[in-house]
Amino acid sequence: VVPAAGRGDRLGLGVAKAFVPLAGEPLVLHAVRGVLASSCVDAVVVAAPPDDLDRAAALLSGLGDRISVVPGGATRTESVRRGLVHALGMRPAADVVLVHDAARAFAPPAVFAAVVAAVRGGAPAAVPVLPVVDTIKRVDAADRIMSTVDRSVLRSVQTPQGFRVDVLCRAHAAQPGPETTDDAGLVEALGEQVHTVPGDPMAFKITTTLDLAVAEVLLSREHAG
Ligand code: CTP
Ligand code: MG
Repeated sequence: VVPAAGRGDRLGLGVAKAFVPLAGEPLVLHAVRGVLASSCVDAVVVAAPPDDLDRAAALLSGLGDRISVVPGGATRTESVRRGLVHALGMRPAADVVLVHDAARAFAPPAVFAAVVAAVRGGAPAAVPVLPVVDTIKRVDAADRIMSTVDRSVLRSVQTPQGFRVDVLCRAHAAQPGPETTDDAGLVEALGEQVHTVPGDPMAFKITTTLDLAVAEVLLSREHAG
């Protein structure tokens, strides 16, 4: 399930992030190609901006018939839920499901493989993580520093996140709070253990124009061989 229905407000380009061009092709196309390149999935459901569904479907039609496009929702969680419902309709016997941000278009195949291996190995859920590199401070409402957080016990979480299908379905059926920003958070709320696997800097999320510039450099290097 590829949530790709976000507005890309932090990019500030006035274009849904899925359609922002990277080396001349829309981000969502790069992202879905990356999912297919992992050789880990047999069907892909993209939750696309509802107003531009046909455009997204047309863009992805060249990648084969294992890909479908559904309208995303107002929040990432709602987009994933819609994609999950469709995915289960397509693959009722599936036992593992991955959720992967379209905005993490460069996530390497090895990360997909590690996440799937963890779930196949018995984890109800698994997420790629990286250490936090910045010093982290807790502040009050006036932005005054209250304390320094021990970053050795903190991790940045990426996607793809992997789940036993029954676990992710239960997690999405329980009404989440508005502050839940990833699917693993929903699973944690069930009291299930979420396992971690090593993430990769290449699985970074394109969020700001700096990330977009990095993405362009990565693609130009790829093309230069
Ligand atoms: N997403 C989604 N549906 C939403 C919101 C987000 O499918 N209603 C997806 C985005 O398309 C993205 C992923 O969730 O692939 C992570 O979200 P984020 O990086 O926040 O993307 P945007 O919401 O598009 O960006 P912004 O928050 O800056 O508007
Ligand atoms: Mg967002």
